[in-house]
Amino acid sequence: MSAAPPSGNDLSLDEILGLAPVIPVLIIEDVAYAVPLGRALVAGGLPVLEITLRTPVAMDCLERMAGEVEGGVVGAGTVLNPAMRRAAAAAGARFCVSPGLIEGETAGERAPLLPGIATATELIAGLAAGFTNFKLFPANVVGGIEALKAFASPFQQARFCPTGGVNAANAADYLALPNVVCVGGSWVAPAEAIRAGDWGRITALAREAAALGAG
Ligand code: 3PG
Repeated sequence: MSAAPPSGNDLSLDEILGLAPVIPVLIIEDVAYAVPLGRALVAGGLPVLEITLRTPVAMDCLERMAGEVEGGVVGAGTVLNPAMRRAAAAAGARFCVSPGLIEGETAGERAPLLPGIATATELIAGLAAGFTNFKLFPANVVGGIEALKAFASPFQQARFCPTGGVNAANAADYLALPNVVCVGGSWVAPAEAIRAGDWGRITALAREAAALGAG
């Protein structure tokens, strides 16, 4: 689980999602935080890093982390349309995450996409578009563990990364499900720890999260 990821930009989404049980979902307010934050998480055993495109500096942070955080596999989150995906890939994103399905977008090879779904109808549409990996979002609102159990039988080819309300208290329960490959969450990088530059705390949180096993 915590083995060093291969170098280069050649990882499939399956490979990326298998690198660690938890993908930190990062909201970064200042570009100066990007590299030390990324290094703190990688040091704790979480190499897959999702930078949400929600702040004015997010794309700069992505570029800096992708270029300077050794051992990190950096991707973009909150990708809402094809233009954001293209921009993220150009900035060095090795994967993209969206809260929903983006019309016309497919899994792709460059910066492969992990789309969000919340219902069976969206899952059917995502499978028809060629996706097999999905973010269940917002996981705790749309049925959480019970929804994932219910999806397992009719959607045997689907694998999930539940995100939204996942935290240290419930992550292990999600990860115990056979159709969950990893979980996403912001709890490993609290805003106040980032602002305080408390990288030691973030590494400790990452270490605890990295010790969780996937089902
Ligand atoms: C998000 O998009 O904000 C993620 O789902 C993270 O959710 P969380 O803050 O509940 O972990």
